[in-house]
Amino acid sequence: MSKKYLITTDYGLEDIATAEIAQKLDATAIEAYYNFPQRISFYSKNSTTELLSLRSVHSVLEIIHEFEALDTPTLFSGLEATCIEVLEKAGVRFRVRCERYGFHPFRSVDLERIYGAMLLQKYPQLKVNLTNYDYEVRIDVLGTRVLVSLQLNKEALSRRFVRVHNHRAATKPTIAFALLQLANIQVGNRVLDPTCGSGTIPIEAAHIWGNSIEIIGHDLQLENVEGALQNATSEGFEGLIQFAQVDARTLDTSLSKPVDRIIANLPFGVQSGKNISLKALYETFLLSAHGVLSADGRIVLMTMRGGVLRDVLFRIKMFKICAERITEGGGLFLHVFVLEKITHFEGC
Ligand SMILES: C[S@@+](CC[C@H](N)C(=O)[O-])C[C@H]1O[C@@H](n2cnc3c(N)ncnc32)[C@H](O)[C@@H]1O
Repeated sequence: MSKKYLITTDYGLEDIATAEIAQKLDATAIEAYYNFPQRISFYSKNSTTELLSLRSVHSVLEIIHEFEALDTPTLFSGLEATCIEVLEKAGVRFRVRCERYGFHPFRSVDLERIYGAMLLQKYPQLKVNLTNYDYEVRIDVLGTRVLVSLQLNKEALSRRFVRVHNHRAATKPTIAFALLQLANIQVGNRVLDPTCGSGTIPIEAAHIWGNSIEIIGHDLQLENVEGALQNATSEGFEGLIQFAQVDARTLDTSLSKPVDRIIANLPFGVQSGKNISLKALYETFLLSAHGVLSADGRIVLMTMRGGVLRDVLFRIKMFKICAERITEGGGLFLHVFVLEKITHFEGC
């Protein structure tokens, strides 16, 4: 039987999640949930394992009940009327978590506590366990829309990698997945992350394409190159990714063969040397990238300093900006640029 689900994803990357759901699941009525950002609903008969294998998704919620609540009494009576069959079994441990979008006359923690108490009254054999639970009951209050659901994942699906080496500016794997999708990678491509840090983008690429593409990861800091290799090894990709300590400003002289795709979460502070501005770093990187990119090559770049990158791109005029969008990571707005190489360009 088809069930209704809501997934959460990254801000501004909802179309990538929609495409992944359409491609990997047998899903119908896939749509942005009342146009709320980061939320997509659909109907599916797929197994929990299949649902949890989506790479653009943070959480998967199986919707039990959804209703409109223009005020708090309507919200409470809607919750009261909700039946959650799996909680009827003896000895079940549960917890309640609430997420809200908009302004409401209660806090999320208050609603968690109140709904937890309601459920204990309704199903007296239930046990609350905040850490070791069988079911996480979610209440999402999205404006006036209320959803009661069961969250199918315990950890956010974006925390999927074992990180032996941590990087303070590591890219979220779900965002790495989106950047790789935007790069339109083809089997046989040579794919480079020139500022790979802890290796998230190359490792995500290895998960998706395995050895059907060539994957290269560079970083200026040896510590990161070694750490990325350790991270790749712990994901089972020893030998699949070529890691090296290379300055992204010297790609044209460091690489022996052209690359087809460059995907990077660029540095947004400058560690590369004293008296070097971010603008100069981006410009020298882009000039060297132009030299090493194949004629039909594509670059996808993410940075918090979108204005700086845009200025450089307009100044050097060597790439067509095919798309620019904004996503969010760690409470910061991140700009994503999709670039194509302008060929027959003589630097004039
Ligand atoms: C935002 S972090 C990348 C994070 C990475 N995607 C991850 O998930 O860990 C930017 C990286 O750029 C590297 N970097 C800075 N300047 C560089 C340069 N000139 N050449 C190559 N890498 C550089 C930094 O060492 C840092 O690891």
